[in-house]
Amino acid sequence: MTEPSTSPVTPVLTKRWLSPNSWTLHTYEQLEGYTALRKALQAHPDQLIELVKASGLRGRGGAGFPAGVKWGFMPKDPVKPHYLVINADEGEPGTCKDIPLMMADPHSLIEGCIIASYAMRANHCMIYVRGEALHPLRRLNHAVREAYAAGYLGKNILDSGFDLDIVVHAGAGAYICGEETALLDSLEGKRGQPRLKPPFPAAAGLYACPTTVNNVETIASVPFIVNGGSDWFRTMGSEKSPGPKIYSISGHVENPGQYEAPMGTTLRQLLELAGGMKDGVPLKFWTPGGSSTPLFTAEHLDVPLDFEGAAEAGSMLGTTAVQVFNETVSVPWAVMKWTQFYEHESCGKCTPCREGTYWLAQVLERMVDGRGSEEDIDTLLDVCDNIFGRSFCALGDGAVSPITSGIKYFREEFLALCEKNEKAPELVGAAR
Ligand code: NAI
Ligand code: SF4
Repeated sequence: MTEPSTSPVTPVLTKRWLSPNSWTLHTYEQLEGYTALRKALQAHPDQLIELVKASGLRGRGGAGFPAGVKWGFMPKDPVKPHYLVINADEGEPGTCKDIPLMMADPHSLIEGCIIASYAMRANHCMIYVRGEALHPLRRLNHAVREAYAAGYLGKNILDSGFDLDIVVHAGAGAYICGEETALLDSLEGKRGQPRLKPPFPAAAGLYACPTTVNNVETIASVPFIVNGGSDWFRTMGSEKSPGPKIYSISGHVENPGQYEAPMGTTLRQLLELAGGMKDGVPLKFWTPGGSSTPLFTAEHLDVPLDFEGAAEAGSMLGTTAVQVFNETVSVPWAVMKWTQFYEHESCGKCTPCREGTYWLAQVLERMVDGRGSEEDIDTLLDVCDNIFGRSFCALGDGAVSPITSGIKYFREEFLALCEKNEKAPELVGAAR
């Protein structure tokens, strides 16, 4: 097998994005669209599950759970209806990859949904999109209508005997509804709050039926794997984190945007793709995968951004939302803004997160306003300690990441703010 590559390569997931009218069925079909579906429908469903397992595709929503293994949890003989649910509720601060994908290439998601549903014996697929994301919702709905009209959806798809309906559902803009079980509750018309796991969705998901919840980018990768094969997919990225990845780069870089590169690409390489630091002002800190992942600093420029590399360096890959901050930015100020977000988005179900995020925001606001004391730093860490690992879902753990890592790398800055009793400077410019 070819040695896995970590240098930027010809785009895969984004290869159609710049084609004229890339979102239309016509363009999609001109550029190999729905050829993977025709191939997949010739195969046995279990062969497709084995193919995805062999490819090593890992969940692109942030957690990195092996997609083929998750599909394999679905019962083989449907007693109850099976569901595929696509998590398109992209909400992690800094994350902007699924929405551009749905805007530029919605049919790749739809084709992936049909193949995945066929593999998991599901005849119903729901795509749960952030309610605020009006343009992707319209575009996706249009693409679904086109797919029905062309016989890719509905009854007896391409004369295969397989039936599938896709429903595009608009959420109502709660960050917690990106947590898979809260999303399922929301789809059922209930208030979106996380459920206890286990049972995992494959055992009891939507309407207590076997369900797989997958992220947009994960499912959009599937047609490429069906056409290219698992060995081809593994020629990109690293052994344990193979394949291409869409990194969303925002903040103090010359050209913020989405950059596709193999898993394991470093920030140094990504900065080259994004034109370097804005106006040459040096890097101070950055998030590898959204604000729920511990911060990195200029020391981490060469950390391979895959699941293992980010974890070994003390953070997480998360959603590959790379937010870049230059040396003009106050770390306590940025950490306060993220904490206010978590306080606002905490669903209130469990005490550590509901009460803890409130107190974290109070203390940080006081510090940033120049009214903090040295003791406040210990108070912050103590509250974080009482949230981390004690909350009902990952939101609580994520909320403490910017604080604990911010203090770990920039304690002096928090201390100086308290000693001088000065207000922290607000962020100005690109990353605001
Ligand atoms: P998780 O690790 O609990 O689960 C990941 C997936 O694997 C789920 O689908 C889960 O059902 C499945 N799974 C895990 N263990 C299993 C088992 N033993 N049996 C069957 N299935 C199993 O992570 P979670 O809470 O789903 O996601 C956390 C991640 O979400 C964070 O790492 C964060 O980066 C990311 N995130 C992404 C956001 C976005 O906008 N894309 C927003 C917020 C967080
Ligand atoms: Fe809700 Fe926060 Fe508890 Fe998750 S950790 S259940 S978001 S209160």
